[in-house]
Amino acid sequence: MSALNKKNILLGVCGGIAAYKSAILARRLIDAGAQVRVVMTSGAQAFVQPMTFQALTGNPVHTSLLDTEAEAAMGHIELARWADIILIAPATANTLARLAHGFADDLLSTVCLASEAPLFIAPAMNRLMWAHAATLSNCKTLNDRGASFIGPAEGIQACGETGAGRLLEPEDIRDQLATLLQSNAAITTSNEQTTQTLAGKHVLVTAGPTREAIDPVRYISNHSSGKMGFAIAEAAVSMGARVTLVAGPVSLSASDTIQRIDVVSAEQMLDAVMQVAGNCDVFISVAAVSDYRLEEIKEQKIKKNDEQMQLTLIKNPDILKQVSSREDRPFCVGFAAETENVEAHARGKLVRKQLDMIAANQVAQPDNPVFGSDTNALDVYWPANDGHQAIPASSKTHVAQALLTIIASQLGKKPEGSQG
Ligand code: PMT
Repeated sequence: MSALNKKNILLGVCGGIAAYKSAILARRLIDAGAQVRVVMTSGAQAFVQPMTFQALTGNPVHTSLLDTEAEAAMGHIELARWADIILIAPATANTLARLAHGFADDLLSTVCLASEAPLFIAPAMNRLMWAHAATLSNCKTLNDRGASFIGPAEGIQACGETGAGRLLEPEDIRDQLATLLQSNAAITTSNEQTTQTLAGKHVLVTAGPTREAIDPVRYISNHSSGKMGFAIAEAAVSMGARVTLVAGPVSLSASDTIQRIDVVSAEQMLDAVMQVAGNCDVFISVAAVSDYRLEEIKEQKIKKNDEQMQLTLIKNPDILKQVSSREDRPFCVGFAAETENVEAHARGKLVRKQLDMIAANQVAQPDNPVFGSDTNALDVYWPANDGHQAIPASSKTHVAQALLTIIASQLGKKPEGSQG
């Protein structure tokens, strides 16, 4: 059953050529079992007639803040209370700016202010407007307040230019909305329970860095704190899974229900993972494993006698690749920590490491290093139909839930015992 079933969705439609796609979107949401009411901005009405949405949804369309008839029936407060979800598609640059600054001078912005319902935004605009610092800043403000973004897509735009800013196709908006909803435990209708989509599954997670000793007092490592991997382990438990967590040296605690194995080096992590890999359904390799280790670890502390010192490093085993090469391999999910060309590098690893899925994060950004921080954003890729889903910036807990929801849905599509 779709996560949209029986949800009250308030669909906000703004003024842009993509508004015609919202009519199909309204239909698709209803097909998924949702009740849909539409609020149109004045700009939207220049592109599509309210009558179109009225006919499709079977409900009157709301267009005006000061409408005595609407106030008697369903005014802005009632609409705000009625909505389980507010979805704005298309959302223009103007609407993003108005929402970010808390305007309340039309019906859509007022309902958004007056509602506690989660807000989902599918933007559509010219590529330069989308890339403008003002728009990016407005998106960040909205995102920080909990709004989730769906799209935009890249491609040829109505203005004739090519780039990011196209409204996603209605079916993609519906599917991403359902996925995001499933991962958002806060959104429940009165008689719904949190979904246990990983019930009966054994999930193996690696987290944190590894440390490669140089001598008894020094080591090579990286900035991983383990927060992302631990968040995934905890979220998997809350979705019904049995979880084994192989953790590098971190200062985090995990729930008692998680079977935790602490390790230090990449070789120790490999040993621990291989003991469990044949006995789990999903392997999520979040650890930032050191790619190299010392060829020789000195038994005594190295003295600083020389101006220069050379260390010889040798390659560590690729733990993820060793798991994905097993005949009894679980569903294998890798992480890709990239500083540039994120999609190309991530898709390269997806193929080279024979993975079922890869979650890419852009690290070392001035506004979010990801390593050590409490928030993240992911682009998730899988091989079938060049699959891709973005998980917008949010707390690592929320990102973990969203990732596991995508994994659970793809896991269901994978034939038993199939490879890669
Ligand atoms: O721990 P946090 O502070 O919360 O930060 C989170 C994170 C940035 C560490 C995490 O989100 C992340 O990106 N983890 C993967 C980091 C990494 O090593 O990426 P990579 O692109 O170098 O490796 C690709 C994949 O191969 C990863 O799944 C990695 O676990 C795996 N790998 C890499 C090397 C190796 N020898 N063995 C492996 O299994």
